[in-house]
Amino acid sequence: MSTNILLLCGGDGAEHDISLLSASFIEEQLNKTEDFYVLKAVIHNNQFLVEDKPGYFDNNKTFVFDNHKFDVDCVVPCIHGVPGETGDIQSFLEILNIPYIGCRSQASRYCFDKNTTKLHLDSLGIPNSPYKIIPLPNEQYKQIALEFFDKYKDIYVKAASQGSSVGCYHVTKRDDVWDSIIEAFSYSTEVVIEKNIVHRELEVAAYEIDGELKISKPGEIIIPENKFYTYDEKYSQDSGTTTTVEPEGLTDEEIHTIQNLARRAFVGLKLRDLSRIDFFLSKEDGILINEINTFPGATPISMFPKMLEHNGDKMDVFLAKAVYHAIKEHEKGENK
Ligand SMILES: Nc1ncnc2c1ncn2[C@@H]1O[C@H](COP(=O)(O)OP(=O)(O)O)[C@@H](O)[C@H]1O
Ligand SMILES: [Mg+2]
Repeated sequence: MSTNILLLCGGDGAEHDISLLSASFIEEQLNKTEDFYVLKAVIHNNQFLVEDKPGYFDNNKTFVFDNHKFDVDCVVPCIHGVPGETGDIQSFLEILNIPYIGCRSQASRYCFDKNTTKLHLDSLGIPNSPYKIIPLPNEQYKQIALEFFDKYKDIYVKAASQGSSVGCYHVTKRDDVWDSIIEAFSYSTEVVIEKNIVHRELEVAAYEIDGELKISKPGEIIIPENKFYTYDEKYSQDSGTTTTVEPEGLTDEEIHTIQNLARRAFVGLKLRDLSRIDFFLSKEDGILINEINTFPGATPISMFPKMLEHNGDKMDVFLAKAVYHAIKEHEKGENK
């Protein structure tokens, strides 16, 4: 009997299209396991669509679409941003009692929200950039934001619950601070402002395989000077950004510190199966965690699969093991 996998992708957030690219790659990898039968459903306009036909879950772990019934053994929620990395789809699957791979709902939500990530990192003693949470666009927080700017003179303003650099601005003029914050509020109910960290951008794949947490060697995102890692730099054809899984000139100590911090974040934030943990390496500010992605991109240019493979593992084997593990854990009642 085959293992039926429902591959969920899309979502109605800013990262819908990227999620579809990742899902094609993940589908290809899942199909390498002979035992797997994969059905792909795209979340769009609050519907689950299988080749544009709407489907729904009945109450027996069955996904029904176009007069077909698909008994779901495991879900792979390949969604970046809403509603996958926000933890919503995981909560939904927990209510339906369906096994899924990846981080649970609470860890997903903590990590997707840049403010709750920072509060957790602080409490775990993990260095991150100096910041202020801006929960409301009112006069009180305007003053706090301007004082913060006066201290650092060069800041980032970011929508707290967004990915792919949507609602993220580099601000070097005092007059632009508040306008950028108002703009960021159009993407998220909270905003975070951070000191600009002059840095090299490094990231690791943190993943569990056969019950062992592995942290890859850091890879590097090399962004052209005077730019930051914007949506276009991430995904556009003519992006000047390059990536490497063998960054030059890192000391063993730097690599060790990065891996150690990643391990502490993975364990402390109770992540599961996979994540990509992003770092800033800065002469002035040391090694900081920038953010944690609970379902990292898996497009042909994405770093997570590259770093995992460079670390000696195979993406298809990793996914297969995660699926079997999720099913087994679920049988023991340990999905949550
Ligand atoms: N505090 C900061 N200092 C310097 N660069 C930053 C800072 N915060 C963000 N950036 C730049 O903006 C990019 C996007 O920010 P990030 O927090 O990773 O948001 P997203 O979740 O959208 O990827 C980063 O990859 C980095 O290039
Ligand atoms: Mg990022």
